[in-house]
Amino acid sequence: MGKLIFVSNRLPVTVKKNETDIEYNKSIGGLATGLKSYHEQGNSVWAGWPGISEDVLQDEEQNTISAKLQDDYNCLPIFLSEEDIELYYHGFSNETIWPLFHYFTSNTQYNQDTWEAYKRVNQKFFDTLDAVIEPDDTIWIHDYQLMLLPQMIREKYPNAQIGFFLHIPFPSYEIFRLLIWREEILQGLLGANLIGFHTFDYVRHFLSSVRRLLGIENNMYKLNYETHTVRVDAFPMGIDYDYFFKSDPEDKLSDELRDFIANTGDVQNIISIDRLDYTKGIPDRIKAFKRFLKEYPEYHEKVRLNLIVAPSRVEVETYDNLKKQIEVLVSQVNGEFGTVNWMPIWFFFRSFSQDDLITFYRHSDVLLVTPLRDGMNLVAKEYIASRNDYKGMLVMSETAGAASELGEAVIVNANNHREIANGIKAALDMPDAEKIERNKMMHRRLSRYNVKFWADEFITALKNTDSEQIEDK
Ligand code: G6P
Repeated sequence: MGKLIFVSNRLPVTVKKNETDIEYNKSIGGLATGLKSYHEQGNSVWAGWPGISEDVLQDEEQNTISAKLQDDYNCLPIFLSEEDIELYYHGFSNETIWPLFHYFTSNTQYNQDTWEAYKRVNQKFFDTLDAVIEPDDTIWIHDYQLMLLPQMIREKYPNAQIGFFLHIPFPSYEIFRLLIWREEILQGLLGANLIGFHTFDYVRHFLSSVRRLLGIENNMYKLNYETHTVRVDAFPMGIDYDYFFKSDPEDKLSDELRDFIANTGDVQNIISIDRLDYTKGIPDRIKAFKRFLKEYPEYHEKVRLNLIVAPSRVEVETYDNLKKQIEVLVSQVNGEFGTVNWMPIWFFFRSFSQDDLITFYRHSDVLLVTPLRDGMNLVAKEYIASRNDYKGMLVMSETAGAASELGEAVIVNANNHREIANGIKAALDMPDAEKIERNKMMHRRLSRYNVKFWADEFITALKNTDSEQIEDK
């Protein structure tokens, strides 16, 4: 039996260089958790970028990092230069694919140089992997930064088992067709034996693009591409449910969280947490909260919105502009509605520890999560799982992938401020009995379809693709 190779743009370990030494920080993200049990088995390796520019490293430092990542973390680093980071990561990945796939057509840039860099860096991933791939390995590639890699591997290893999972939406054909390099991207993906998406909508969009742009029909989500069969399916990603449900972070809490709990009094807390990103609908969310305060003055001094925005991709101009826009909107709301004793929005541009977050969730009556587009949104699932008293309520937009699994939440349109405002009120006022009933249904689903289930299901399906033949029409 061959080994398992995971590939993602970022490794689950981030490397930082200080004045005196090199620091290694393990990520606690959903993907790292989901793949943990496979990755710790020994006969596996995870390839990706360690998050540092190779231009700041001497040759011997690169060797030290490679050895440490290999020995202690089973990881194979792919070093990127400043130019790679600028053109492939910030450029094509985050200024072309990310906005287009989230339906932000006017933010999408079409630039031949960044496309060339995307091809070059996908090739760099392949060249590094080529040294470790053996013909009977199973390879699972993740996300939009590496969509050309499946076909690059297929060309050299025609019998390899290659899986690809897209963590962001796959847009409708009418959007995808706008991409200049649309055929190349589809051909790159079709090098895989199994292509997974979070929802059936994304599966349909992908298959329709393949049919209309490449003229390839599918039969029951399977299609023939050159030498092999490709299966396309939905695998909604879950969370580590038991961890969030059972976690007891009380003695690991920071002082600020202790103070927050002690001083929360009768105020109802609403929490909102995202990476800084224009797809998350943060300005509209603030405007909707403003509308709520305007329409329902009886909540003044009785409710507080904790708006957490984790810094992300700030080198990309649109992200930096968004931060400024959020700051202005928050201060407008606080200036207009605040009193001597009350500030409606507490804005945090930073991250919190996982323990502090779980505690924040447990003391928040409502999670407000209204992305304009989101592949899945695991925060929504983590909030529900953390509320082990079943008394939290979620106000969520229908354009988050998670909305198709969490129908018991208060579902809203992310652009409709009035609907969000009414949704906030409905969630705050919901009787405990109703919250418990709705939560229990969501908990059952989240505990069954957890992240381990997701990874097992994908890997099992990938290993079975060999024996699958497309049926005759
Ligand atoms: C999304 C993407 C991931 C990405 C993450 C963080 O969830 O689907 O591929 O790693 O955002 O973004 P970053 O640009 O910091 O890697």
